Amino acid sequence: MPVSLVILAAGQGTRMNSDLPKVLHHVAGSPLLHHAMQAGRALDPERVVVVTGHGADAVTRATLAYDEDALTVVQAEQNGTAHAVAQAAPLLADASGDVIVLYGDTPLVRAETLEAMQAARARHAVVVLGFHAADPGRYGRLVAEGESLLKIVEYKDASDEERAITLCNSGVICADAKLMFDLVGQVGNANAAGEYYLTDLPELARARGLSAGVVICDEAETLGVNTRAQLADAERAFQIRARAEALENGVTLTAPETVFFALDTVVGRDATIGPNVIFGPGVTVESGAEIKAFCHLEGCHVSRGATVGPFARLRPGAELAEDVHVGNFVEIKNAILDEGVKVGHLTYIGDADIGEHTNIGAGTVTCNYDGVMKHRTRIGKNAFIGSDTMLVAPVTVGDHAMTASGSVITEDVPAEALAIGRARQLTKPGLATKLFARLRAIKAAKAKG
Ligand code: UD1
Ligand code: CA
Repeated sequence: MPVSLVILAAGQGTRMNSDLPKVLHHVAGSPLLHHAMQAGRALDPERVVVVTGHGADAVTRATLAYDEDALTVVQAEQNGTAHAVAQAAPLLADASGDVIVLYGDTPLVRAETLEAMQAARARHAVVVLGFHAADPGRYGRLVAEGESLLKIVEYKDASDEERAITLCNSGVICADAKLMFDLVGQVGNANAAGEYYLTDLPELARARGLSAGVVICDEAETLGVNTRAQLADAERAFQIRARAEALENGVTLTAPETVFFALDTVVGRDATIGPNVIFGPGVTVESGAEIKAFCHLEGCHVSRGATVGPFARLRPGAELAEDVHVGNFVEIKNAILDEGVKVGHLTYIGDADIGEHTNIGAGTVTCNYDGVMKHRTRIGKNAFIGSDTMLVAPVTVGDHAMTASGSVITEDVPAEALAIGRARQLTKPGLATKLFARLRAIKAAKAKG
């Protein structure tokens, strides 16, 4: 059955105490909104509509950054969740199949759960996602008999008896598109908040002789972010899940609780991740690669058999081919390292191409920035860059070439050449002994006063 998504993201999020719209706050390196979009993406939705309001321009940009085919609509005034869904109706007028409503501030709903809701649609016209709350607080309560949902009561409107119910509304709801918008059009605002509640849908469906049902998920999936503390809770929950998934997928994590993944991190089977490794967005680590302790990676690709760290930083555009070795205190940015390149120690490689099996000595720096513009360094294959070489870009070093330690390379080095760019050494026999004697005499004179 085809499905479209409506993601509600118009609310201000006052309790975040922030200038940033709530759904743009990050968990695992990505906006909350992207998490909701990712969960829904697994259903291969026909159309995705994000309802924006507060910070509409920024939320629209973030929507398109994740999915350029997504649609957005502005809900100028936030008159309730049903009112928000109604804004999407014109964009889904000709949609076939189901609509699932998600919240942009609820990042942990799993794709499998949404699939279970879709499956339950075979038995019910309207399906609501519920959970048993440890502390039901102000959540809407589900009045249910088994899988059958009688109605949803908002906390503000609930009786004491209803408030005692611990089965709560996550907010996620699924129905046939046409029925969904029909029912939403029927919702009134005669309630304690004077808002149009999406939670009226089950009762409205039942009044038409249709059935409503509930699918229950783990409470951890329904965590909604309203405060910074809940943002931190969501981060923690995401990481716990991501670590478990990595282990399940055959990744070795030496100290799982110290590794932080991003929403889109991909780590292959039999890769090893040491303690205290942090993944920013856009990282792929292939099978069998090893990331040692205390590395920070973002926007990079680490191929099979490569080793990174300890204490290395891979920044966006770092491409490590097979069997590359990047050692301690090395930073790589926007650079392609071909097969078998070794960069062992204390080095900055930025805006560079390095040919296969080239060795970069300790302390090498690609001087890529002239204060105004960035320039590229190109090094061929099987080259040897001596320790402490400064490569002043733009500059090219040919295949099988060498640079002498301590050189400042400002001119291109042809293939197979040795380039030396440093002051010539002077050696004065016996002069050290004379100098020591003189310095000690000065010190002794000072001590006498
Ligand atoms: C809602 C549910 C409640 C449920 C809870 C789960 C209703 C009436 N209540 O309550 O049963 O237990 O979520 O977290 O649906 N939004 C808009 N436009 C609006 C109003 C809301 O886009 O006009 C968005 C918000 O930005 C948010 C989501 O919808 O992402 C939920 O709205 P919120 O006001 O937080 O609803 P709750 O009162 O928490
Ligand atoms: Ca809420």
